[in-house]
Amino acid sequence: MKQLKIAALAGDGIGPEVMREAIKVLRAAEKKFSFQLGITEAPVGWAGIDAAGQALPAATLALCKQSDAILFGSVGLPDRDPTIPKAERPERAALLRIRKEFGLFANLRPVTLPKALAHACPLAKERQGNGIDILVVRELTGGMYFGQPKQTEDLGGGVQRAIDTMVYTTPEIERIAQVAFQAARLRRKKLTSIDKANVLENGILWREVVTRIGKAYPDVTLEHMFVDNGAMQLMLRPTQFDVMLCENMFGDILSDEAAALGGSLGMLPSASLGATTGGNTFGFYEPAGGTAPDIAGKNLANPIAQILSTALMLRYSFQLNDAAAGIERAVGRTIDAGCRTGDIFSPNEPNARKVGTREMGDAIAAAV
Ligand code: IPM
Ligand code: MG
Repeated sequence: MKQLKIAALAGDGIGPEVMREAIKVLRAAEKKFSFQLGITEAPVGWAGIDAAGQALPAATLALCKQSDAILFGSVGLPDRDPTIPKAERPERAALLRIRKEFGLFANLRPVTLPKALAHACPLAKERQGNGIDILVVRELTGGMYFGQPKQTEDLGGGVQRAIDTMVYTTPEIERIAQVAFQAARLRRKKLTSIDKANVLENGILWREVVTRIGKAYPDVTLEHMFVDNGAMQLMLRPTQFDVMLCENMFGDILSDEAAALGGSLGMLPSASLGATTGGNTFGFYEPAGGTAPDIAGKNLANPIAQILSTALMLRYSFQLNDAAAGIERAVGRTIDAGCRTGDIFSPNEPNARKVGTREMGDAIAAAV
Protein backbone atom coordinates (compact mmCIF):
# COMPACT_ATOMS: atom_id res chain seq x y z
CA MET A 1 0.00 0.00 0.00
CA LYS A 2 1.23 3.46 -0.91
CA GLN A 3 2.60 5.43 2.07
CA LEU A 4 2.14 9.17 1.75
CA LYS A 5 4.62 11.30 3.69
CA ILE A 6 2.92 14.65 4.06
CA ALA A 7 4.02 17.76 5.93
CA ALA A 8 0.91 19.66 7.05
CA LEU A 9 1.64 23.33 7.75
CA ALA A 10 -1.58 25.05 8.74
CA GLY A 11 -0.15 28.51 9.45
CA ASP A 12 -2.20 31.51 10.46
CA GLY A 13 -5.69 32.96 10.36
CA ILE A 14 -8.22 30.46 9.00
CA GLY A 15 -5.33 28.08 8.13
CA PRO A 16 -5.73 25.74 11.14
CA GLU A 17 -9.53 25.54 10.77
CA VAL A 18 -9.56 24.66 7.11
CA MET A 19 -6.57 22.33 7.51
CA ARG A 20 -8.45 20.35 10.15
CA GLU A 21 -11.32 19.77 7.71
CA ALA A 22 -8.95 18.85 4.88
CA ILE A 23 -7.25 16.22 7.04
CA LYS A 24 -10.68 14.92 8.04
CA VAL A 25 -11.54 14.43 4.37
CA LEU A 26 -8.16 12.83 3.64
CA ARG A 27 -8.78 10.35 6.47
CA ALA A 28 -12.14 9.48 4.96
CA ALA A 29 -10.46 8.93 1.58
CA GLU A 30 -7.78 6.78 3.24
CA LYS A 31 -10.50 4.39 4.45
CA LYS A 32 -11.96 4.06 1.00
CA PHE A 33 -8.95 4.10 -1.32
CA SER A 34 -5.76 2.13 -0.88
CA PHE A 35 -3.17 4.42 0.61
CA GLN A 36 -1.80 5.12 4.04
CA LEU A 37 -1.37 8.64 5.37
CA GLY A 38 1.72 9.70 7.28
CA ILE A 39 0.85 13.28 8.19
CA THR A 40 3.15 15.38 10.38
CA GLU A 41 2.03 18.83 11.41
CA ALA A 42 4.44 21.72 11.96
CA PRO A 43 4.21 25.46 12.61
CA VAL A 44 4.77 28.07 9.92
CA GLY A 45 4.10 31.79 9.52
CA TRP A 46 3.26 33.73 12.67
CA ALA A 47 2.65 30.36 14.28
CA GLY A 48 6.31 29.58 13.45
CA ILE A 49 7.48 32.91 14.86
CA ASP A 50 5.51 32.27 18.05
CA ALA A 51 6.76 28.69 18.39
CA ALA A 52 10.38 29.04 17.30
CA GLY A 53 11.14 32.66 16.47
CA GLN A 54 11.07 32.18 12.70
CA ALA A 55 8.34 32.15 10.05
CA LEU A 56 9.90 28.99 8.67
CA PRO A 57 11.50 27.24 11.66
CA ALA A 58 14.46 24.98 10.83
CA ALA A 59 12.54 21.94 12.10
CA THR A 60 9.61 22.74 9.80
CA LEU A 61 11.90 23.09 6.79
CA ALA A 62 13.63 19.81 7.70
CA LEU A 63 10.24 18.09 7.91
CA CYS A 64 9.31 19.44 4.46
CA LYS A 65 12.55 18.06 3.03
CA GLN A 66 11.79 14.61 4.41
CA SER A 67 8.25 14.63 3.03
CA ASP A 68 6.86 13.84 -0.41
CA ALA A 69 4.43 16.75 -0.40
CA ILE A 70 3.55 19.83 1.61
CA LEU A 71 -0.06 20.54 2.45
CA PHE A 72 -0.11 24.21 3.34
CA GLY A 73 -2.74 26.43 4.92
CA SER A 74 -1.94 30.11 4.68
CA VAL A 75 0.38 32.63 6.31
CA GLY A 76 0.54 36.33 7.02
CA LEU A 77 -1.42 38.61 9.34
CA PRO A 78 -1.07 42.19 8.09
CA ASP A 79 -1.86 43.73 11.47
CA ARG A 80 0.62 41.78 13.54
CA ASP A 81 3.84 43.44 14.64
CA PRO A 82 4.70 45.99 11.93
CA THR A 83 8.21 46.33 13.41
CA ILE A 84 9.44 42.94 12.23
CA PRO A 85 11.82 43.35 9.23
CA LYS A 86 10.04 42.73 5.92
CA ALA A 87 12.45 39.95 4.96
CA GLU A 88 11.39 38.04 8.09
CA ARG A 89 7.65 38.43 7.58
CA PRO A 90 5.79 35.18 6.83
CA GLU A 91 4.93 35.98 3.19
CA ARG A 92 8.56 36.31 2.23
CA ALA A 93 10.35 34.25 4.88
CA ALA A 94 8.00 31.24 4.67
CA LEU A 95 5.90 31.19 1.51
CA LEU A 96 8.28 32.71 -1.04
CA ARG A 97 11.24 30.97 0.61
CA ILE A 98 9.58 27.54 0.27
CA ARG A 99 8.67 28.23 -3.38
CA LYS A 100 12.30 29.08 -4.13
CA GLU A 101 13.89 26.43 -1.90
CA PHE A 102 11.95 23.60 -3.54
CA GLY A 103 12.03 25.06 -7.07
CA LEU A 104 8.23 25.16 -7.27
CA PHE A 105 8.05 27.00 -10.56
CA ALA A 106 4.67 25.80 -11.79
CA ASN A 107 1.54 26.96 -10.03
CA LEU A 108 -1.74 25.45 -11.21
CA ARG A 109 -4.98 27.15 -10.16
CA PRO A 110 -8.10 25.47 -11.54
CA VAL A 111 -11.20 27.66 -11.44
CA THR A 112 -14.57 26.04 -12.00
CA LEU A 113 -18.00 27.42 -11.33
CA PRO A 114 -20.28 24.58 -10.26
CA LYS A 115 -23.75 24.86 -11.85
CA ALA A 116 -25.36 25.00 -8.41
CA LEU A 117 -23.31 28.09 -7.55
CA ALA A 118 -24.26 30.22 -10.55
CA HIS A 119 -25.70 32.77 -8.10
CA ALA A 120 -22.29 33.17 -6.38
CA CYS A 121 -20.62 34.26 -9.63
CA PRO A 122 -20.57 38.06 -9.97
CA LEU A 123 -21.36 37.81 -13.69
CA ALA A 124 -24.84 37.67 -15.16
CA LYS A 125 -26.02 34.16 -16.14
CA GLU A 126 -25.71 34.95 -19.89
CA ARG A 127 -21.99 35.53 -19.45
CA GLN A 128 -21.50 32.22 -17.64
CA GLY A 129 -22.40 30.25 -20.79
CA ASN A 130 -22.29 26.51 -20.20
CA GLY A 131 -20.04 27.00 -17.21
CA ILE A 132 -16.70 28.53 -16.41
CA ASP A 133 -13.73 26.17 -16.36
CA ILE A 134 -10.31 27.81 -16.47
CA LEU A 135 -6.87 26.60 -15.47
CA VAL A 136 -4.49 29.42 -14.59
CA VAL A 137 -0.88 28.27 -14.99
CA ARG A 138 1.26 30.77 -13.12
CA GLU A 139 5.06 30.91 -13.20
CA LEU A 140 6.02 31.01 -9.53
CA THR A 141 9.75 31.48 -8.98
CA GLY A 142 10.69 34.27 -11.37
CA GLY A 143 9.64 37.73 -12.46
CA MET A 144 9.22 40.67 -10.11
CA TYR A 145 8.77 38.54 -7.01
CA PHE A 146 12.38 37.42 -7.01
CA GLY A 147 14.29 39.62 -9.51
CA GLN A 148 17.32 41.54 -8.22
CA PRO A 149 17.85 44.33 -7.36
CA LYS A 150 14.91 44.50 -4.99
CA GLN A 151 15.34 47.29 -2.46
CA THR A 152 14.28 50.67 -1.19
CA GLU A 153 16.91 53.39 -1.30
CA ASP A 154 17.15 56.68 0.51
CA LEU A 155 17.92 59.42 -1.97
CA GLY A 156 18.22 62.08 0.72
CA GLY A 157 15.95 65.04 1.35
CA GLY A 158 13.15 62.74 2.47
CA VAL A 159 12.95 61.06 -0.94
CA GLN A 160 13.01 57.29 -1.22
CA ARG A 161 13.14 55.07 -4.27
CA ALA A 162 11.77 51.50 -4.40
CA ILE A 163 13.04 49.05 -7.01
CA ASP A 164 11.65 45.69 -8.06
CA THR A 165 13.11 43.94 -11.06
CA MET A 166 11.17 41.90 -13.59
CA VAL A 167 13.47 39.31 -15.05
CA TYR A 168 12.98 36.06 -16.98
CA THR A 169 15.43 33.78 -18.76
CA THR A 170 14.54 31.61 -21.74
CA PRO A 171 14.71 28.31 -19.80
CA GLU A 172 12.35 29.68 -17.14
CA ILE A 173 9.78 30.55 -19.80
CA GLU A 174 10.31 27.28 -21.68
CA ARG A 175 9.64 25.02 -18.71
CA ILE A 176 6.44 26.78 -17.60
CA ALA A 177 5.22 26.86 -21.21
CA GLN A 178 5.74 23.09 -21.42
CA VAL A 179 3.61 22.62 -18.30
CA ALA A 180 0.86 24.81 -19.74
CA PHE A 181 0.79 23.11 -23.15
CA GLN A 182 0.74 19.67 -21.55
CA ALA A 183 -2.14 20.73 -19.31
CA ALA A 184 -4.04 22.15 -22.29
CA ARG A 185 -3.61 18.86 -24.11
CA LEU A 186 -5.53 17.11 -21.32
CA ARG A 187 -8.29 19.72 -21.42
CA ARG A 188 -9.96 21.63 -24.26
CA LYS A 189 -6.66 22.21 -26.10
CA LYS A 190 -6.63 25.97 -26.03
CA LEU A 191 -3.87 28.04 -24.49
CA THR A 192 -4.03 31.79 -23.95
CA SER A 193 -0.61 33.19 -23.12
CA ILE A 194 -0.75 36.46 -21.19
CA ASP A 195 1.93 39.12 -21.53
CA LYS A 196 2.60 42.82 -21.91
CA ALA A 197 4.64 42.58 -25.11
CA ASN A 198 3.57 46.07 -26.18
CA VAL A 199 5.58 47.61 -23.34
CA LEU A 200 7.85 45.14 -21.56
CA GLU A 201 11.04 43.44 -22.80
CA ASN A 202 9.91 40.52 -20.65
CA GLY A 203 6.67 40.40 -22.60
CA ILE A 204 8.42 40.24 -25.96
CA LEU A 205 10.67 37.39 -24.86
CA TRP A 206 7.74 35.61 -23.21
CA ARG A 207 5.74 35.72 -26.45
CA GLU A 208 8.68 34.54 -28.60
CA VAL A 209 9.51 31.60 -26.36
CA VAL A 210 5.90 30.48 -25.87
CA THR A 211 5.34 30.61 -29.64
CA ARG A 212 8.43 28.48 -30.25
CA ILE A 213 7.48 25.89 -27.61
CA GLY A 214 3.97 25.82 -29.12
CA LYS A 215 5.35 24.38 -32.38
CA ALA A 216 5.73 21.07 -30.59
CA TYR A 217 2.03 21.13 -29.67
CA PRO A 218 0.23 21.57 -33.01
CA ASP A 219 -2.94 20.07 -31.49
CA VAL A 220 -3.18 22.98 -29.00
CA THR A 221 -4.53 26.31 -30.26
CA LEU A 222 -2.25 29.08 -29.00
CA GLU A 223 -3.38 32.64 -28.62
CA HIS A 224 -1.56 35.66 -27.12
CA MET A 225 -3.29 38.34 -25.11
CA PHE A 226 -2.10 41.50 -23.38
CA VAL A 227 -2.68 41.31 -19.64
CA ASP A 228 -4.96 44.35 -19.46
CA ASN A 229 -7.19 42.88 -22.14
CA GLY A 230 -7.02 39.49 -20.38
CA ALA A 231 -8.35 41.08 -17.18
CA MET A 232 -11.20 42.60 -19.15
CA GLN A 233 -11.97 39.46 -21.18
CA LEU A 234 -12.29 37.48 -17.94
CA MET A 235 -15.20 39.74 -17.04
CA LEU A 236 -16.75 39.96 -20.51
CA ARG A 237 -16.41 36.43 -21.86
CA PRO A 238 -14.73 34.05 -19.40
CA THR A 239 -15.93 30.99 -21.32
CA GLN A 240 -13.38 31.72 -24.08
CA PHE A 241 -10.57 30.59 -21.75
CA ASP A 242 -9.28 27.09 -21.22
CA VAL A 243 -5.67 27.39 -19.99
CA MET A 244 -4.23 30.83 -19.20
CA LEU A 245 -0.44 30.97 -19.01
CA CYS A 246 0.93 33.87 -16.96
CA GLU A 247 4.19 35.10 -15.52
CA ASN A 248 4.34 35.35 -11.73
CA MET A 249 2.81 38.78 -11.03
CA PHE A 250 0.17 38.68 -13.77
CA GLY A 251 -0.81 35.19 -12.61
CA ASP A 252 -1.16 36.39 -9.03
CA ILE A 253 -3.59 39.08 -10.10
CA LEU A 254 -5.57 37.21 -12.74
CA SER A 255 -5.96 34.08 -10.61
CA ASP A 256 -7.73 36.09 -7.90
CA GLU A 257 -9.94 37.67 -10.53
CA ALA A 258 -10.70 34.27 -12.03
CA ALA A 259 -11.38 32.84 -8.56
CA ALA A 260 -14.19 35.31 -8.05
CA LEU A 261 -15.79 33.89 -11.20
CA GLY A 262 -15.69 30.44 -9.59
CA GLY A 263 -18.00 31.70 -6.86
CA SER A 264 -15.51 32.50 -4.12
CA LEU A 265 -11.80 32.73 -3.43
CA GLY A 266 -12.60 30.14 -0.76
CA MET A 267 -13.13 27.55 -3.50
CA LEU A 268 -9.80 27.91 -5.33
CA PRO A 269 -7.17 25.23 -4.65
CA SER A 270 -3.66 25.37 -6.00
CA ALA A 271 -0.75 23.09 -6.74
CA SER A 272 2.82 24.38 -6.90
CA LEU A 273 5.06 21.86 -8.58
CA GLY A 274 8.77 21.47 -9.09
CA ALA A 275 10.59 19.44 -11.70
CA THR A 276 9.69 15.75 -11.97
CA THR A 277 12.66 13.57 -11.01
CA GLY A 278 12.56 9.79 -11.26
CA GLY A 279 8.81 9.87 -11.81
CA ASN A 280 8.21 11.86 -8.60
CA THR A 281 6.89 15.39 -8.48
CA PHE A 282 7.45 17.27 -5.25
CA GLY A 283 4.48 19.49 -4.69
CA PHE A 284 3.10 22.15 -2.43
CA TYR A 285 -0.68 22.39 -2.11
CA GLU A 286 -2.53 25.36 -0.71
CA PRO A 287 -5.78 27.27 -0.98
CA ALA A 288 -5.18 30.46 -2.97
CA GLY A 289 -7.27 32.59 -0.64
CA GLY A 290 -5.05 33.61 2.24
CA THR A 291 -5.53 33.89 5.99
CA ALA A 292 -8.80 35.90 6.09
CA PRO A 293 -8.09 37.22 9.65
CA ASP A 294 -11.51 38.90 9.85
CA ILE A 295 -13.29 35.54 9.96
CA ALA A 296 -10.57 33.42 11.60
CA GLY A 297 -11.54 31.23 14.54
CA LYS A 298 -15.26 31.73 14.00
CA ASN A 299 -16.16 28.55 12.13
CA LEU A 300 -17.09 30.70 9.11
CA ALA A 301 -14.32 29.93 6.60
CA ASN A 302 -14.99 27.86 3.51
CA PRO A 303 -12.72 24.79 3.75
CA ILE A 304 -13.34 23.70 0.14
CA ALA A 305 -10.19 25.30 -1.33
CA GLN A 306 -8.08 23.43 1.24
CA ILE A 307 -10.00 20.19 0.65
CA LEU A 308 -9.66 20.47 -3.13
CA SER A 309 -5.94 21.12 -2.60
CA THR A 310 -5.68 17.66 -1.04
CA ALA A 311 -7.22 16.24 -4.22
CA LEU A 312 -4.57 18.00 -6.31
CA MET A 313 -1.93 16.57 -3.97
CA LEU A 314 -3.20 13.01 -4.38
CA ARG A 315 -3.24 13.47 -8.16
CA TYR A 316 0.04 15.27 -8.83
CA SER A 317 2.36 14.03 -6.10
CA PHE A 318 0.98 10.52 -5.58
CA GLN A 319 -0.75 9.61 -8.87
CA LEU A 320 -3.83 8.56 -6.87
CA ASN A 321 -6.24 9.72 -9.55
CA ASP A 322 -9.26 7.77 -8.29
CA ALA A 323 -8.92 9.10 -4.77
CA ALA A 324 -8.45 12.63 -6.09
CA ALA A 325 -11.55 12.36 -8.26
CA GLY A 326 -13.38 10.82 -5.29
CA ILE A 327 -12.73 13.90 -3.16
CA GLU A 328 -13.70 16.25 -6.01
CA ARG A 329 -16.96 14.33 -6.53
CA ALA A 330 -17.68 14.48 -2.80
CA VAL A 331 -17.25 18.27 -2.89
CA GLY A 332 -19.57 18.46 -5.91
CA ARG A 333 -22.23 16.31 -4.24
CA THR A 334 -22.06 18.34 -1.04
CA ILE A 335 -22.58 21.55 -2.99
CA ASP A 336 -25.41 19.99 -4.99
CA ALA A 337 -27.01 18.95 -1.72
CA GLY A 338 -27.22 22.62 -0.71
CA CYS A 339 -24.42 22.90 1.88
CA ARG A 340 -23.15 26.49 1.88
CA THR A 341 -20.63 28.41 3.93
CA GLY A 342 -21.41 32.13 4.16
CA ASP A 343 -19.29 33.11 1.15
CA ILE A 344 -21.40 30.99 -1.24
CA PHE A 345 -24.75 31.25 0.51
CA SER A 346 -27.72 33.05 -1.00
CA PRO A 347 -31.08 33.37 0.77
CA ASN A 348 -32.76 33.07 -2.65
CA GLU A 349 -31.71 29.46 -3.08
CA PRO A 350 -34.60 27.29 -1.92
CA ASN A 351 -32.54 24.22 -0.94
CA ALA A 352 -29.51 25.96 0.52
CA ARG A 353 -28.42 25.44 4.13
CA LYS A 354 -25.90 27.75 5.73
CA VAL A 355 -23.24 25.72 7.53
CA GLY A 356 -19.97 26.36 9.33
CA THR A 357 -16.44 25.24 8.46
CA ARG A 358 -16.75 22.06 10.52
CA GLU A 359 -20.15 21.05 9.16
CA MET A 360 -18.93 21.55 5.60
CA GLY A 361 -15.91 19.33 6.32
CA ASP A 362 -18.12 16.69 7.97
CA ALA A 363 -20.50 16.66 4.99
CA ILE A 364 -17.70 16.29 2.44
CA ALA A 365 -15.96 13.60 4.49
CA ALA A 366 -19.27 11.70 4.70
CA ALA A 367 -19.78 12.09 0.93
CA VAL A 368 -16.35 10.53 0.26
C1 IPM B 1 -0.77 33.98 -3.68
C2 IPM B 1 -0.58 35.03 -2.62
C3 IPM B 1 0.92 35.24 -2.39
C4 IPM B 1 1.52 35.69 -3.70
C5 IPM B 1 1.26 36.22 -1.25
C6 IPM B 1 0.62 35.82 0.05
C7 IPM B 1 2.74 36.38 -1.07
O1 IPM B 1 -1.23 36.21 -2.98
O2 IPM B 1 -0.29 32.85 -3.50
O3 IPM B 1 -1.40 34.28 -4.70
O4 IPM B 1 1.50 36.89 -4.01
O5 IPM B 1 2.03 34.86 -4.44
MG1 MG C 1 -2.37 36.05 -4.74
